Amino acid sequence: MDIKIIFQDVLTEGQKKEIWELLKAYDHEFVPPLSARNSAFKKIPGKDGNLVINEEGPVVYFNEIINYKFVLALLDEKIVGFMTYIPNHTVAVEGYEPFVAEYASTAIVTPECRGQGAMKRFYKEIIERNPGKNVATRTWSGNEAHLHVLAKHGFELFATLKDDRGPGIDTVYYIRRG
Ligand SMILES: CC(C)(COP(=O)(O)OP(=O)(O)OC[C@H]1O[C@@H](n2cnc3c(N)ncnc32)[C@H](O)[C@@H]1OP(=O)(O)O)[C@@H](O)C(=O)NCCC(=O)NCCS
Repeated sequence: MDIKIIFQDVLTEGQKKEIWELLKAYDHEFVPPLSARNSAFKKIPGKDGNLVINEEGPVVYFNEIINYKFVLALLDEKIVGFMTYIPNHTVAVEGYEPFVAEYASTAIVTPECRGQGAMKRFYKEIIERNPGKNVATRTWSGNEAHLHVLAKHGFELFATLKDDRGPGIDTVYYIRRG
């Protein structure tokens, strides 16, 4: 499978539609679903069990991330995966000293293209484009594929918010220092 990885500063209207379709299709693989979130970097909702799913899908989430920087995975010019990141983002976690990083907010790869290194290459692209800078992200504690990729790129665990996404599911912040 010949997957091409490209950096895209500003998405075309057609690409925005493709990103929306991917968000909608894989919304519920995220914990909690993207359609229950108000932001890609603020507090995760649902800790108290009070999760409100938007029936229209991850509209709020889409409208936020569509303005970030994108790294795209293309197969025959079709988007089969992406990672978004916010440049020079101040990562502020309660109880920890804030720091500035290239903040990877969201990644999806379609199931048929998983396990071929696309996510690994998204991070490689961001790291190589930003020499000397920190790269950071957050995910949930059971996201083995993501955690595996972070370890391979030398990310370190920065903060753990215990049971932040429900019983036994922590929010974990990772940093790769520049
Ligand atoms: C997470 C996701 C983006 C990974 O994309 P991908 O292109 O398949 O990732 P890669 O191929 O670069 O790397 C995945 C690595 O994790 C490993 N992996 C996959 N599932 C695993 C598991 N359950 N346990 C341990 N390792 C696992 C793969 O073997 C691979 O490692 P390898 O290169 O050493 O073989 C994709 O699974 C996805 O879209 N998931 C749903 C949405 C999601 O969770 N997004 C991230 C949320 S923050």
